Amino acid sequence: MILVTGATGHVGGELVRRLAAAGHPVRAMTRRPHEARLPAGVEAVYGDADDPASLDAAFAGARGAFLMSAQGVGTAPGPTHDLALAEAAARAGIRRAVKLSVLDGGAGSDVIARWHAEAEAAVTDPSRDWAWTLLRPGRFMSNALQWAGRLRAGDEVAVPFADRPAASIDPADVADIAALALTGDGHAGAAYELSGPESLTPADELAVLGGTLGRDLHLRPLPDEAARAGMSAYGFPPEVVDAIVQRTRQSDRGAEVLPTLEKLLGRPARTFAEWARAHAAAFSR
Ligand SMILES: NC(=O)c1ccc[n+]([C@@H]2O[C@H](COP(=O)([O-])OP(=O)(O)OC[C@H]3O[C@@H](n4cnc5c(N)ncnc54)[C@H](OP(=O)(O)O)[C@@H]3O)[C@@H](O)[C@H]2O)c1
Repeated sequence: MILVTGATGHVGGELVRRLAAAGHPVRAMTRRPHEARLPAGVEAVYGDADDPASLDAAFAGARGAFLMSAQGVGTAPGPTHDLALAEAAARAGIRRAVKLSVLDGGAGSDVIARWHAEAEAAVTDPSRDWAWTLLRPGRFMSNALQWAGRLRAGDEVAVPFADRPAASIDPADVADIAALALTGDGHAGAAYELSGPESLTPADELAVLGGTLGRDLHLRPLPDEAARAGMSAYGFPPEVVDAIVQRTRQSDRGAEVLPTLEKLLGRPARTFAEWARAHAAAFSR
């Protein structure tokens, strides 16, 4: 049986559907199991990364696990959710762990690097008795859902770092790689850096979305100071806000189109236009 954490999320939800469709026994972890809409045959289980006892119950009997944490960098003294999930997986004796990390998360020496390095090490530690695989995707196409509320009400969105391109990836593609690593051979000890098929600015993505919806959508660039204020209001501490701005302004890694996904899946990554068609209803009035 495979335990999927974050099973109601963008990646985890897609992963649950893929594993179930392929006939694998799946348990879907969520803090609200009674509300989860899951494929037939998938068991919903309560689990909260802040509650180790609930994790023991959720992981009991699992042979494989998809591990993800939604905990924001710097919102705790360390990646306590990643650590709790890895410890629960170890207590349960799982044999295979696939961890969702982030592109270049552990690179450098800033607060973001320290956080992700510790989170990844909880899974890759040589004392662990499992085969591990790390997934390190760049920006998700699903981040565009942050525009959904504004675009249901009007045609303009305010966007931070509007000039910075990224090779965004469809979470469904991340889920395809996760399913492969959880059920196929030859992925032990691999750290897969993943991207989408093209580098687009937020303005490019908005234009594609507008084309899909048949609407003329407008982007209003947010100054970096407004972006900083938004991140602070969201709960990121000042050193994390500084690190995010510095990484976004100075690193071009997120804009690189990477070959890994196509090599692994034998097909190109899904485009933003495909993602927009699949999620058009979220933006419709
Ligand atoms: N967005 C990006 O551009 C990007 C890029 C690279 C990597 N990532 C990584 O991808 C991950 C986010 O994946 P996603 O977009 O699929 O997630 P998501 O859609 O934001 O969903 C978050 C999931 O986390 C679960 N969750 C939240 N708090 C929890 C808790 N205390 N205990 C247990 N589960 C909890 C939620 O489950 P319930 O609410 O049902 O409990 C939900 O399933 C993050 O680790 C992020 O670093 C994101």
